[in-house]
Amino acid sequence: MADKQTELFPPQSWTGVDDVLIVGGGLAGLFCALKLAPRPVTILASAPIGKGASSAWAQAGIAAAVSPGDTVEKHVQDTIAAGAGIVDEHIARLMAGEASDRIHDLLEYGVPFDRDLEGKLVTSREAAHSENRVVRVKGDMAGRAIMHALVTAVKNTPSIRLMEGYVVEEITTEGKYVTGLIARPDGGNSPKRIMFPARAVVMAAGGSGHLYERTTNPTEARGGGIGMAARAGATIADPEFVQFHPTAINVGKDPSPLATEALRGEGCTLHNSAGERFMLALDDDAEMAPRDIVARGIFAEVEAGRGAFLDCTTAVGEHFKDEFPTVYGYCQDAGIDPAKERIPVIPAAHYHMGGILTDADGRSTLDGLWACGETTSTGAHGANRLASNSLLEAVVFASRIANNISGLLPDPKTSPWKDKSGINPDAQTADDDVAMKKLRSIMSSKVGVLRSGEGMTKAVIEIDELERNNNSSRFVNTLTTAKLVAIAGLLREESRGGHFRTDFPKERDEWKHRTFITLKEAEKEISKITGKPEAVLQAQN
Ligand code: SIN
Repeated sequence: MADKQTELFPPQSWTGVDDVLIVGGGLAGLFCALKLAPRPVTILASAPIGKGASSAWAQAGIAAAVSPGDTVEKHVQDTIAAGAGIVDEHIARLMAGEASDRIHDLLEYGVPFDRDLEGKLVTSREAAHSENRVVRVKGDMAGRAIMHALVTAVKNTPSIRLMEGYVVEEITTEGKYVTGLIARPDGGNSPKRIMFPARAVVMAAGGSGHLYERTTNPTEARGGGIGMAARAGATIADPEFVQFHPTAINVGKDPSPLATEALRGEGCTLHNSAGERFMLALDDDAEMAPRDIVARGIFAEVEAGRGAFLDCTTAVGEHFKDEFPTVYGYCQDAGIDPAKERIPVIPAAHYHMGGILTDADGRSTLDGLWACGETTSTGAHGANRLASNSLLEAVVFASRIANNISGLLPDPKTSPWKDKSGINPDAQTADDDVAMKKLRSIMSSKVGVLRSGEGMTKAVIEIDELERNNNSSRFVNTLTTAKLVAIAGLLREESRGGHFRTDFPKERDEWKHRTFITLKEAEKEISKITGKPEAVLQAQN
């Protein structure tokens, strides 16, 4: 790194200390910061908090067994069934068991969940849930309302320092300890790399949807958190499992607007351009089949040139605007009246089940690194996440992390770690757009809804080549995550949940387990394919 330049942090206006850093201004990061209060915490976020976070775009809500007749055990069993054989039962039980306490926390932070005339929470049904279990806000506005309440709470909490517009691009380590983070200000466009020392780092950097050309995630969801943790040596779990939402609205927008699954829960049906209700032939539950099955059904229609359309004209009709205001707004923007016309739909990358391996307290395999939200793989989702379990997982494990940090590091204090701040003009974010476009095309065509050994082998070679020609730290983090998805997909010679291989179309007993992989292990496998030395070693020299 050239011309070392040191900046003094914390700035003088900050009277707290930087012993806990949280990366990410989405639900997991904000909830963790609030749960740690009054302990001083710094949140680093690439966009203003609440913006650039998938949580704010969530339409359905939070799954919790709070309605009459529902039980935690039923929620656990549905989660396990959706996860296609590899859910960690202990984690799923813990998550479902703490759901109602976390819903009450959110109510206290001011989230206006829908209630009936008796004041009881209203719950709705989504695919693969055996009960009405999704707690929501004004139909499809849960994510927005939850984030609005939390952003307000965070801004009113003096122990939380916000550093917005900081793109974190490296986790620093000394020996086996995480010592802090390096972030680039000005939305990642500054040549300055500023070190933030810390005793505890919580990675809550969100998902990886923008690895793909079509996604429902905000542009900030580029898999950076997973890549950074992998490059620091953390074990990554289940990276091959990516969930494609069946019904992104197909109007050529990036990111793609979402038509919530709750619409199918209300009885909306899927048709091709010939009017056939194609899901009837594919699964007994038709439109309410698990998400991966519906996504593949729609993908086949689109690939065959017949297109796929969600018909809400009968099941929702004139109530659309009041019951699903968010989707209604998206349709209006595209000139579609969903009360009278069918909505064109297409699968889009929606949720990454894989991520930084964490335990029940959100601890990663690196000392000093915790992680929560979509950037993790707790084991709660297995190969296929049950709808509306993601916001739940985020708040449950964010809260457990806060307890764990408070127990392990009772006194807030800073530590005298080596300052690694500096200048690196070669590593700016703005330059990687062309390469990012290329990466998204590789991932969509070769590691997408349908995969094959041949396609993923090519993807691994092409991603490796891209990495050898790009040194932007931020982009290398994204490439690292893509590489882990592709190589783990190639190694898993079966189909399970969100991972479907045309050359191995069935589940196989010998693969009924999770994937645990380090970047070093991944690089060894990739090197066998490319015949070249391991790229990650080159990147770190
Ligand atoms: C949806 O509203 O369809 C998405 C819900 C989820 O992904 O959990």
